[in-house]
Amino acid sequence: MKIAVINFSGNVGKTTVARHLLMPRIAGVELITVESLNADDGQAHALRGRQFGELQEYLQTVDNAVIDIGASNVEELLALMRKYRGSHEDFDCFVVPTVAALKQQQDTIATLAELALLGVPASRLKLVFNMVDDGVELAQAFDTVLAFIAEQPLAMANTACRLGANEIYERVKGTGSDLARLAADETDYKALIGRASAAADKLALAQKLATRRLARGVVPELDACFAALGLLLAPALPGMSTSAP
Ligand SMILES: Nc1ncnc2c1ncn2[C@@H]1O[C@H](COP(=O)(O)OP(=O)(O)O)[C@@H](O)[C@H]1O
Ligand SMILES: [Mg+2]
Repeated sequence: MKIAVINFSGNVGKTTVARHLLMPRIAGVELITVESLNADDGQAHALRGRQFGELQEYLQTVDNAVIDIGASNVEELLALMRKYRGSHEDFDCFVVPTVAALKQQQDTIATLAELALLGVPASRLKLVFNMVDDGVELAQAFDTVLAFIAEQPLAMANTACRLGANEIYERVKGTGSDLARLAADETDYKALIGRASAAADKLALAQKLATRRLARGVVPELDACFAALGLLLAPALPGMSTSAP
């Protein structure tokens, strides 16, 4: 299973979706960040043809990968995909996170249209509605992109593929923490807080407790969103037995 997470827009949750929605739920998967291919000097560069060639070759050598494509690279990547005709077939699915801001919905529409033009079928092009605020009607908040898809069904727009706005993602950003592991943490923070004498220690423990609570709340939501994507329903690879021995 090779999944590209892509959108012309930044800040729609590509990295969050790759790290917290997809990675933990696909066994033996590797995360490839296209931005990091050329970020050695800390500057964003265009993805070059040679690197794309290398990425394609590399993808042939792994079974499971999630490719997080930074927004600065999307245009170049799509241009290269046009050049390397058929290279989109290396991906089982393109997951396109989107948020409700109008500019981002418009960029999302442009992304879907480009991928469809490359030949990606709607069944392999899936939206994730991200940062959906509590109490907000999804169909209303995302009416621009949903109206487009109603008219041109280029992608799967299952409204169950949704993630609420949650501060846990900011809390764990850059820590490499796995949310399921945080949720499973059985530390008795209340007891530790009671025993700690310094206020700073109490506060640090209280923050860990709060993070665990948020993690416990968000993991079921991530599970439901992932299930709604239906990624694991893809046909088994040739040679793999699907029946019990
Ligand atoms: N569902 C969410 N709730 C709250 N914050 C989120 C959510 N998804 C993403 N974010 C935050 O929004 C910012 C942009 O997300 P990120 O995944 O880095 O987007 P991208 O990779 O598309 O640029 C990050 O600070 C991230 O922590
Ligand atoms: Mg990112």
